[in-house]
Amino acid sequence: MQDFEKLGVFYLGREFDLGKNALGENLVLYDSRDLVTHAVCVGMTGSGKTGLCISLLEEAVIDGVPAIVLDPKGDLANLLLTFPDLREEDFLPWINEEDARRKGVSPQEHAAGQAALWKKGLADWGQDGERIRKLKEAAEFAIYTPGSTAGIPVSILKSFAFPGDAVVADVELLGERIGATITGLLNLLGVEGDPVQSREHILLSTILDNTWKQRHDLDLAGFIQAIQSPPVNRIGVFDLESFFPSKDRFALAMKLNNLLAAPGFSAWLEGAPLDIDRMFHTPAGKPRVSIFSIAHLNDTERMFFVSLLLTQLLGWMRAQPGTTSLRALFYMDEIFGYFPPVANPPSKAPLLTLLKQARAFGLGIVLATQNPVDLDYKGLSNTGTWFLGRLQTERDKERVLDGLEGAAATGAGRFDRKRMERLLAGLGQRVFLMNNVHEDAPVVFQSRWAMSYLRGPLTRTQVKQLMDPFKSERTTAPPVVPPPAAAGLPAAKPRAAAPATARPVLPPDVPQGYLTVRMPPPEGALLHYEPMLLGMGTVYYSSAKIGVSARKDICLLAEFSESPSRVDWGEAREEEMKESDLEKFPHAPDATFSAPCGEASGAKNYAGWGNAFKEWVYRNRKLELLKSPATGMLSDPGEPERAFRIRLQQAGREKRDQQVERLRQKYAPKVAALQDRIRRAGLATEREKTQASQQKLQTAISFGAAILTALTGRKALSQSTLGRVATTARGAGRTLKESQDVARAQENVEALQKQLDDLQALMEQEMAEVGAAGDPLAEELETCEVRPKKTDIAVSMVSLAWYPYWQDGKGGNAPAR
Ligand SMILES: Nc1ncnc2c1ncn2[C@@H]1O[C@H](COP(=O)(O)OP(=O)(O)O)[C@@H](O)[C@H]1O
Ligand SMILES: [Mg+2]
Repeated sequence: MQDFEKLGVFYLGREFDLGKNALGENLVLYDSRDLVTHAVCVGMTGSGKTGLCISLLEEAVIDGVPAIVLDPKGDLANLLLTFPDLREEDFLPWINEEDARRKGVSPQEHAAGQAALWKKGLADWGQDGERIRKLKEAAEFAIYTPGSTAGIPVSILKSFAFPGDAVVADVELLGERIGATITGLLNLLGVEGDPVQSREHILLSTILDNTWKQRHDLDLAGFIQAIQSPPVNRIGVFDLESFFPSKDRFALAMKLNNLLAAPGFSAWLEGAPLDIDRMFHTPAGKPRVSIFSIAHLNDTERMFFVSLLLTQLLGWMRAQPGTTSLRALFYMDEIFGYFPPVANPPSKAPLLTLLKQARAFGLGIVLATQNPVDLDYKGLSNTGTWFLGRLQTERDKERVLDGLEGAAATGAGRFDRKRMERLLAGLGQRVFLMNNVHEDAPVVFQSRWAMSYLRGPLTRTQVKQLMDPFKSERTTAPPVVPPPAAAGLPAAKPRAAAPATARPVLPPDVPQGYLTVRMPPPEGALLHYEPMLLGMGTVYYSSAKIGVSARKDICLLAEFSESPSRVDWGEAREEEMKESDLEKFPHAPDATFSAPCGEASGAKNYAGWGNAFKEWVYRNRKLELLKSPATGMLSDPGEPERAFRIRLQQAGREKRDQQVERLRQKYAPKVAALQDRIRRAGLATEREKTQASQQKLQTAISFGAAILTALTGRKALSQSTLGRVATTARGAGRTLKESQDVARAQENVEALQKQLDDLQALMEQEMAEVGAAGDPLAEELETCEVRPKKTDIAVSMVSLAWYPYWQDGKGGNAPAR
């Protein structure tokens, strides 16, 4: 039955017949691609929302889709309780001892009972320990506990770190990131008033904006200092003092300082950086499920953290290439308070943006809530799938129906409120009504048994027990692996400055410039310049054989050597800069200079150094690319292996989804037509049939339920297909005489069944080829080298570059860029 797994469909449960109050035969398989339009799950406490969403996450993981999970109640950590062997002793450390006491049994007996319960539950739903093993091995699971060291702590400080040029260049994204960060921070400080209009917000935002635009990091201590002496003199048209007098700024700085000094706050400062890319994949590129448990935080802390996480997620999302397949999931259990209809907490704006834009990037958002009144339905109009569970009050039902109706009105239309109302009224525990805009009709189903052991919220000790082995590994930053092309270069090394002199006079034909100053001066420091030799150029790589053409800018800073005319470009360091980073004049008029060596004053030498630069690049800068033999895909220049493997996984999923879609297009109409004929044949002979054979027919119609549903499913009845079948039927009705019609209807059910079987066999054959490319994580990659031709190296500049340092007058010397 597990053939559907490789088809990118998620096994959520089985259809449930509300009329008979009985579980049906058909599996409910959900097309993973539908999740890129997001899902909400609404139902009263105990209706089985978390169980359903955990199963959904399990399916995603088996499909290699990573997830970030926000867990306000503590139930999601259960995803780590997966026991492939289903033994009593596996369950024992995790059972709820209180339950055992209440039942009057020993913990061992209770554990044995739970193990048996899980084994049976899984078996009833066609699952086993092997499937659990598959789940466990498909990803790395971790529990993060921001503000606490029970799980892996999360360092929020690193969130004030320079977010990278891409974010800063994107005005909208930068604004969002700064807005949410500062709003969250002010919330944490307990600053009252309109968070966005307040002068506190404006000042802190200005400071962060200013710092990031200079490509600097900021930490809380830096913030405190910057509040007292901000990097700007004016805010809008006002001068700083009248906008926000220093006395008041001092009070704000004190607040921040008190926060920093508060006992327990240090837990916010240590731990893993909130780096979404690392939360989704391991250093080797394997999918991760990162669970953020925030049950231990107070409301303001939670809000702060949630908004921070959401904005980081937005930033990550925008950096992804577009896709039509599911790339990653974000799940939030109990959205209560974070996405209200009227108020505007800091979490709402980023969540709205995510719901609107994440689709294009393949990021699926899944939200659950017990309280339908607490959802902003306008924001949910982009949500493609609704899982509606048992609701407590009439008001809740009305509210959900209103929301759905609204969403249907802006979407594809077609909404039968009466029918939905009837269905909603009959739902029991773990029974959900799924309304998916990508499917033809809503379906009622019972959620399948969860593979994870749903023991409920873990204790702090249990979380610790689960996470301690991973802590050291997770909290340290990954080693920085230089991209292949940059390997072999020495790291930057600031050197001690030579005695200071006034600005040296050089012959006018010596090319020279001043590197821009990026770092602010430390207290009382003075600017000093050191002479360096700058080489800039561009290499064009092209190889028809491996199908690559790329250009790479190279910029090296070398030291002048004492020995005549010799500059060792191999000892040079790589500098991230553009030609505009070289200015005509020193940054400060009172800067001091180290005298350049005599060679540097000889204009003629520069041409020689240029030739040496070219020669060095030619010999040392080959382009190294990785190739996946299974797919023929090639890594991008500078793309690390990890990123390439992650890209391969997504490409594999896209290809698989396309193949499945092709099969669906091919078989769904045929299957639908055959099923329709069987149904009509069945109806015609109905009177002759006994109860038993009716039963048989039912099974015949739902034959090979798993695979057939996977491919054709409820989408078999999609508008176009259904239309086609119906038209054929009507056309046939008009042109054929009644006798012929009856004859047709009496076609032997068995013969039709045989045709359907043959069709299935054919389909299965084609399915065997789906996703045959193998596992991109395990695949052995080839290395391809492209050497540049000498004529493809263009040297654009060789000049003396004055490199800035801040000198504190006591022998201290720090690079100023
Ligand atoms: N898919 C499932 N498999 C097994 N047990 C489930 C499943 N879903 C729910 N349950 C059981 O029902 C209880 C309540 O379900 P839960 O998902 O926590 O409800 P909700 O999140 O709606 O409050 C769970 O503690 C668990 O014992
Ligand atoms: Mg729940």
